[in-house]
Amino acid sequence: MIDLRSDTVTTPIRQMLDAMISANVGDDILREDISVQELESLAAQITGKEAALFTVSGTMSNQIAAMAFTQRGEEIIAGAESHIYNLEAGGLAALSQVQVKPISISRGNIPFEEITSAIRPYGVQSPKTGLICLENTYNLNRGYAISVEDTNKLANLAHQYTIPLYLDGARIFNAAAKLQVPVAQLCKSVDAVQFCLTKGLAAPFGAMLCGTAEFIEKARWMKQRLGGGFRQAGYMAAAGSIAIRLMQQQIAEDNEKASILATNLQNFDMELVHWGNNMTNIICLDLNHCSILEESFIQKLLEKNIKIKVLGKKQYRMVCHKDISWDDINIVEKTIKEILR
Ligand SMILES: Cc1ncc(COP(=O)(O)O)c(C=O)c1O
Repeated sequence: MIDLRSDTVTTPIRQMLDAMISANVGDDILREDISVQELESLAAQITGKEAALFTVSGTMSNQIAAMAFTQRGEEIIAGAESHIYNLEAGGLAALSQVQVKPISISRGNIPFEEITSAIRPYGVQSPKTGLICLENTYNLNRGYAISVEDTNKLANLAHQYTIPLYLDGARIFNAAAKLQVPVAQLCKSVDAVQFCLTKGLAAPFGAMLCGTAEFIEKARWMKQRLGGGFRQAGYMAAAGSIAIRLMQQQIAEDNEKASILATNLQNFDMELVHWGNNMTNIICLDLNHCSILEESFIQKLLEKNIKIKVLGKKQYRMVCHKDISWDDINIVEKTIKEILR
């Protein structure tokens, strides 16, 4: 099966499984798990932050960050198409008890003026703006890389109003590879960042929340409150460390595979794919101008063992990752062309 639905379907590489079997573990709540500590140091180092916390998932990292940065009743500015706003089961309202001011970040272009206007001036009737959230790569099912310059500009804006800037960097390695900058440079001006180990990095479990030592101490407490305290999590952490050490080149290749497939499909039909040079490993297909029936397209791909994700009416997503080979890319291109011809 060529499974292009998401990079979350990736399976661990052999070195991860070997590292898991031989991991040195202990009780992590008692701070005795060496493998977790190694992973946390590595994550802090790669993001250029003082400290890091191993969490269950990107969702947990995001929610912990919101809990740690905000007070009940505050307002968070977040992308209208962001994960934290759309896909975390209302966690911001349920856990942090904050409200969201969603701002659309179309095609990864940050609307600085709109964000500035959304920051609430002090008033007895107004909620206080407690946090600004950025996502990189951005945009529900799209994957635009946000530049270092835009990140820094947004951080300057937030800090001018003494508001922290939080970065959901679930796919920050894809952004860094695309922009050809170190991950730490994309994280330098933000107050905290999380990245997922389970997407292009292909580990079986977890995410890393990174920030100042003080913030991470508070975050550790919030994680415990959510029931996320770990015991012998070193088995999972060992896979995570391998993911960070060995998978970055793979992620650059995943971006490359997506770029070639998208460009070839665009050359075949200009309206089929909207590909920009700030896009990473995610391709969106729009078949609204084609006569083929909605279910028929998915069905025909399935007959050729290709799985893609339905986004909306005649809109689909294909995500490149380590378990999609260059041969698979050729097969997908050929099959789509055959179906639409
Ligand atoms: C941008 C973004 N943030 C956060 C998450 C959540 O990660 P997890 O599935 O580990 O909870 C995802 C998952 O797809 C994501 O795409």
